[in-house]
Amino acid sequence: TMDAKARLREMNKLSANYFYYLLHSKRGQKGLAYLKNRGITDETIKRFGLGYADIYNDDLYRFLKSKGYSDEELKDSALVTIDERRGGSDKFWNRVMFPIMDVNNRVIGFGGRVMGDGSPKYLNSKETTLFDKSRNLYGLNFARSSRKKEIILCEGYMDVISMHQAGFTNAVAALGTAFTSGHGTLLKRYTENVILSFDSDEAGQRAILRAIPILKEAGLTVRVLNLKPYKDPDEFIKGLGREALEERISHATSSFMFQIQVAAGRYDQNDPEEKTKFQHEAAKLLSTIEERLERKNYIDAVSREYYIDAKDLEELVNYYGTSG
Ligand code: CTP
Ligand code: MN
Ligand code: MN
Ligand code: MN
Ligand code: MN
Repeated sequence: TMDAKARLREMNKLSANYFYYLLHSKRGQKGLAYLKNRGITDETIKRFGLGYADIYNDDLYRFLKSKGYSDEELKDSALVTIDERRGGSDKFWNRVMFPIMDVNNRVIGFGGRVMGDGSPKYLNSKETTLFDKSRNLYGLNFARSSRKKEIILCEGYMDVISMHQAGFTNAVAALGTAFTSGHGTLLKRYTENVILSFDSDEAGQRAILRAIPILKEAGLTVRVLNLKPYKDPDEFIKGLGREALEERISHATSSFMFQIQVAAGRYDQNDPEEKTKFQHEAAKLLSTIEERLERKNYIDAVSREYYIDAKDLEELVNYYGTSG
């Protein structure tokens, strides 16, 4: 019911306030030190409402009980688990806490990180009646009003936080899940352009290839950011700073050329046989571009970049069939 939902909202908000309070108390010193050590300022901590979950595994449970919530309600919040014999225990303890807000700044769930090495690195709230992971993006509550011409899609909480702290207030991230068409639709409400800024490791690059068709399907124009030699936006900013990132953003590559680059990387361009295979693969990709002029422009771009005769490539593209 509406009432149960309102109480769940209130519970999430109370919990976020509690974690935030703990971070600034004596008990939270370790958490605060961890965040400071990662370069997060007080202002950013406040803006994102970062917090700390204490070492006792029934700390939040007791707090919420004292506020009058029933075990049943607590269970539905996904913040605690209730065991018949052992009673209530917190999902999050001994972690720094990232409240997840919807576009209207309401807390709908949490992510929690271990301080240092440990597993799992991040824990995330399960979905509840408030929290639908495929219809929310971390940081979108701020990014929606950033007045930039694009939204930058990152992998993680820390990426979003570092980006915002460096002035890139248009950064968002999916919430410990794969990027879905629901996310694509959501983004399209706020922008026409997305820059993919996933990690430069293999998992991140594979995730980019999966996200591109989803974003394009939603009607978005997609470009891809190159963060090398750094692993993610957070580390890039620490290593090279804001201006270098601005520069990379202005040179972000079109999603199409990114796909071509990935294909090219699989073949030895100095080996005639492998180069031929690459040309076939490139032609197949090019043949999917529907608009004639755009297709022609990309044929030119690919020929130039990979030293292929444009006429040869065009012939091959036509062989694979075009629709425009
Ligand atoms: N993630 C998760 N559970 C894990 C690991 C990752 O839910 N065990 C999600 C988190 O949302 C995380 C994102 O995937 O923010 C990206 O993961 P990863 O690149 O491993 O972490 P970072 O964001 O780089 O985190 P940090 O810089 O704190 O190590
Ligand atoms: Mn869902
Ligand atoms: Mn990663
Ligand atoms: Mn990181
Ligand atoms: Mn990362």
